[in-house]
Amino acid sequence: MALLCRSAGLLLKHSKLLPSALAATRQCSSGGQYQYILVDKKGEKKNVGFIQLNRPKALNALCDGLMMEVGKVLDAFEADSEVGAIIITGSEKAFAAGADIKEMQNRTFQECYGGNFLAHWNRVSTVKKPVIAAVNGFALGGGCEFAMMCDIIYAGEKAQFGQPEILLGTIPGAGGTQRLTRAVGKSLAMELVLTGDRISAQEAKQSGLVSKVFPVDQLVSEAIKCGEKIAGNSKLVSAMAKEAVNAAFELTLAEGNRLEKRLFHATFATEDRKEGMTAFVEKRKAAFQDK
Ligand code: HXC
Repeated sequence: MALLCRSAGLLLKHSKLLPSALAATRQCSSGGQYQYILVDKKGEKKNVGFIQLNRPKALNALCDGLMMEVGKVLDAFEADSEVGAIIITGSEKAFAAGADIKEMQNRTFQECYGGNFLAHWNRVSTVKKPVIAAVNGFALGGGCEFAMMCDIIYAGEKAQFGQPEILLGTIPGAGGTQRLTRAVGKSLAMELVLTGDRISAQEAKQSGLVSKVFPVDQLVSEAIKCGEKIAGNSKLVSAMAKEAVNAAFELTLAEGNRLEKRLFHATFATEDRKEGMTAFVEKRKAAFQDK
């Protein structure tokens, strides 16, 4: 809790927070609002929002409370004008071992359907700022799905990915059959979903699920470096770039190219596009102002 509150203090100290975000972090610093996560801002300029899942006894199983907390902090980082990228990580043993099986065990269909069970998980995939998952250890079931909702996945070399829901008599319910298939192709996705087998970090890299693999103890610092790089660019233009890449999963090629062209044109309405090209011509580093 001490670390949590120190983190919340840091968050306040380095932020120009909007009122809603300020309220969220204030609750955290005074009342220890976050029970399941640690929150901080990393990087030399403290411009990388950092969320560490912190439920070690349950291998970061994603109970409702934990996902609600993640959602609140994502809202706060989204509203924080200093934050240009967000990292989500777990422990060395587990990014997350899935949705909380003990919490789900006695749920009925009526409760799941009527209450739109797990709908709030989608918050992760609707954040405009780039989100990096730094995965050490297990990323299973909902843990793998959670990582796949992020924009970039970095893995520690002992990470393991899998969708073992079939062994529990259920199927993935937060994008596992959809995002995994798009990421690794039908054959491997089918194999993972139908057998419950896991793949290693190296296999995940080979199949395109993760972009880079690092030694376990360097994973988080490498993710922060990537976050700093992203946060150093225009936040406005990064959001457009993210929107365009994500559209590739939703649209036909012609529609996607059309959207991309419109967003490309839209960058010419920004000060940052002007600054970026002027800085190149003047042989200096661009100073983006997110305008
Ligand atoms: C609740 C979990 C959990 C989970 C682990 N634990 N995974 N609790 N939900 N998903 C708890 C265990 O019960 C145990 O608590 C403690 O964490 C340590 O786990 P062990 O099994 O003792 O550790 P280990 O032997 O190292 O095995 C690690 C493991 C195994 C291989 C990751 O825990 C495992 O198979 N977990 C379940 C993985 C899984 O099926 N995930 C998919 C969940 S369904 P106690 O108190 O007993 O010591 C899902 C659906 C998503 O995610 C649908 C949409 C979101």
